[in-house]
Amino acid sequence: MVKISRKANNGSGCRRHQYIQWIVRATLASLFVAYSFREIRIIINQSDPNLAPKMMPPKPQIPVPHEVSYQTPLAYGTKDLKDRTGALVAQAIGEGFRHIVTCGHHQKHNESGVGFGWTTSGLDRHEIFLQTCFVPFGSTEEFQRQPSDPMFREDWGLETIEDQVHLSVSTSLKNLQTTYIDALIFHNFRAKRWDDNEMMRAWRVFEQYVDNGTIKYLGMTSVHDPEWFDQFYDSVRIPPITVQNRFHSNRQYDVNMQEVFGKRKIQVQRFWLLNGSSGMGRNNKEMADAKNVTPAQLMLGFVMSGSETCLVGTTSLQHMKEDIEISKCYPSLFFGGGDNYDADRQTYAQKLGMKQARPLTDLSIVGDTSRSCQSMQE
Ligand SMILES: NC(=O)c1ccc[n+]([C@@H]2O[C@H](COP(=O)([O-])OP(=O)(O)OC[C@H]3O[C@@H](n4cnc5c(N)ncnc54)[C@H](OP(=O)(O)O)[C@@H]3O)[C@@H](O)[C@H]2O)c1
Repeated sequence: MVKISRKANNGSGCRRHQYIQWIVRATLASLFVAYSFREIRIIINQSDPNLAPKMMPPKPQIPVPHEVSYQTPLAYGTKDLKDRTGALVAQAIGEGFRHIVTCGHHQKHNESGVGFGWTTSGLDRHEIFLQTCFVPFGSTEEFQRQPSDPMFREDWGLETIEDQVHLSVSTSLKNLQTTYIDALIFHNFRAKRWDDNEMMRAWRVFEQYVDNGTIKYLGMTSVHDPEWFDQFYDSVRIPPITVQNRFHSNRQYDVNMQEVFGKRKIQVQRFWLLNGSSGMGRNNKEMADAKNVTPAQLMLGFVMSGSETCLVGTTSLQHMKEDIEISKCYPSLFFGGGDNYDADRQTYAQKLGMKQARPLTDLSIVGDTSRSCQSMQE
């Protein structure tokens, strides 16, 4: 009896086992067929122009607002803020700015005020992107010694540039109350580039600070010669990731630099956006009204839409709020929908007197284009 019942059990167990095997095989086979169909469809779509998706302009890819990175659409600049620097930097951080742009040994920047401002903001160091600059000591127009410098010497400009960089970096670390600097940029006075040989020697020291982790990224200001920049980029070990340039008609809004900046994936930072030749964006007032934003906001949004960083040093709380808001919703202003979503940007560029808006193809970070600006005017 026991044997018979065992056989009977074995028989039904075997059938169940076969049945399960059959189901597994059938499932695998149907998965294989479905996958093959998908592959075939993809191949057909790629080779048959009738089935392939229509050629569209490149999809806009938008930096995420306020991420702590050199690619932020908006940064707070500290030029001319003097004794108010600390309070304004803390206020700007409170409103949502995360990238602070200052300058060491510069007459117009109060670097220690920035240190005070961010440390009183309540945020941790890693939540803020601190950028400062190196001013060659011989730059008589803008260099200013710091109270903590060793005994002042009349011949500051004659010190080696390597020594100047060491002193500048250590002073910036002290002023900013930090153990590292997110970005250090070489400061050129206006469009007069500093001596090439000296700049290269300073850069070698910059690179050593990147090597030992004191500085994360390097950059420079006021570069308007594409060939020079291309050569410089190739001749250094650690290339610049950012260039800080004016946004002005007298340099044709840097259209001649678009190619090299795009090729080298440079994050461009713009100053003189509102107080320069754009006249607060008044040429495009009609478009701003239609989009329910101020001309200044549309001006900033336009520059952000080209994946560049807007530098503003506003002292007004209202303007801080407006600028932060636009840094979040500019995608909906310029990439609002429809196939021809680059049309408004090109119209804006033309009215500004620019040959063409920066092409969208070299953008790299995907973001949200759905946020609306309507709420800000309510
Ligand atoms: N590399 C260089 O040579 C260089 C040269 C200049 C500047 N920069 C950098 O760029 C930063 C910005 O300087 P900037 O000269 O371009 O301009 P800015 O100091 O930001 O001045 C902008 C002007 O526009 C006004 N404004 C009106 N509406 C505004 C709005 N919605 N948002 C912001 N401002 C508004 C501001 O007035 P309110 O204060 O009343 O808002 C202010 O008078 C500097 O702090 C510095 O870091 C670099």
